[in-house]
Amino acid sequence: MTAPAPARKNPDAGVFDARRAREDFPILKTAAHGKPLVFLDSAASAQKPRQVIDAVAHVYEAEYANIHRGVYELSERTTAAFEDAREKIRAFLNAREAREIIFVRGATEAINLVAQSFGRAFLKEGDEIVLSALEHHSNIVPWQILRDMTGIVLRVAPVNDAGEIEMEAYEKLLNARTRLVAIAHVSNAIGTVTPIREIIRLAHAKGVPVLVDGCQAVPHQKVDLQALDCDFYAFSGHKLYGPSGIGVLYGKAEHLEAMPPYQGGGDMIRSVTFEKTDFNVIPHKFEAGTPHIAGAIGLGAAIDYLEGLGLADIAAHEQALLQHATARLSQVEGLRIVGTAAEKSSILSFTLAAAHPHDIGTILDGEGIAIRTGHHCAQPLMDRFCVAATARASFGLYNTTEDADALAEGLRKVLEIFG
Ligand code: ALA
Repeated sequence: MTAPAPARKNPDAGVFDARRAREDFPILKTAAHGKPLVFLDSAASAQKPRQVIDAVAHVYEAEYANIHRGVYELSERTTAAFEDAREKIRAFLNAREAREIIFVRGATEAINLVAQSFGRAFLKEGDEIVLSALEHHSNIVPWQILRDMTGIVLRVAPVNDAGEIEMEAYEKLLNARTRLVAIAHVSNAIGTVTPIREIIRLAHAKGVPVLVDGCQAVPHQKVDLQALDCDFYAFSGHKLYGPSGIGVLYGKAEHLEAMPPYQGGGDMIRSVTFEKTDFNVIPHKFEAGTPHIAGAIGLGAAIDYLEGLGLADIAAHEQALLQHATARLSQVEGLRIVGTAAEKSSILSFTLAAAHPHDIGTILDGEGIAIRTGHHCAQPLMDRFCVAATARASFGLYNTTEDADALAEGLRKVLEIFG
């Protein structure tokens, strides 16, 4: 439907050019408190390029009807566009089959789906799930709800002072009672990139399946699901420059076929009588009700856009930006970076001796700079670092060294007020 975005190469530099790419994002031309917007909160939700906005508008203007139900041409076209988006996601992640891609509301729903379907069907009292201290609440609370229903036990792999998973301790947690490992690919709160291949390898060596929360990984690096060999992978569309309210659960077909449905309703059935229901095949078995049709198609457009730019180039740009920002912020008096893993994604979490994170955020906001402050939905990780909250700047493909410099300058103002 939408043509892939033209590659934004700067012919002079020969590398990805964020200054040109940011032209695709209308919101970056707006102001906050009368100052040009400096958006440093892409880990919470990324902004949307014109290509995604247009693709969603196009659905509602020219290609919208319910899917999988209509015998008329318009419905067939919408169904084709929706299934085309599923295929784009399959190719983007190098999953084996499109039926392994389930559309959900976001990573939170994806993890709840696995907890309630896989967890309730296959886990029993005394069985263990291994998490890590890095997890977002969405990869903790669903397992606690399951624990309270079934009597399973949650074990937590610790992190060291840099925020890296202690791999020896992780390996020791894997035992004959372990039924699942559920671990983030990248920490949303402090940016640690976990050694996910090794985590999966060690779990599989003990016959334990692995769910990966990939929310903060897919926008920043190429993810190859067949190379990773994980059993489940979850991510949200809105962090990948796509619409909110749409996300993906990838599951190996053998698991998805064995798992019972998570929700009942239309589209997930083959036949229904009051006595009995035959369920549809995957992926439809897990997609009850009318889905976020325009959201899925918009997510496909976001993937076209990223493929046009080149994820490897985006990753290199963001790594250079992270290094630049880390160097600039390290010069700020009393600033402590929380999370200093050797391998980090484009997230910079910090505290200032002189000011509370919420005060930092409010003063920066007055300068037009948007960051996130608080516990980042990772309270156990905050406890691990003995902080109630941090200030967090997170970078997307459209951020530049000027944005990082504006942040450093904004922090100087914070120190003027609180210092
Ligand atoms: N999980 C999102 C964040 O890290 C909302 O900010």
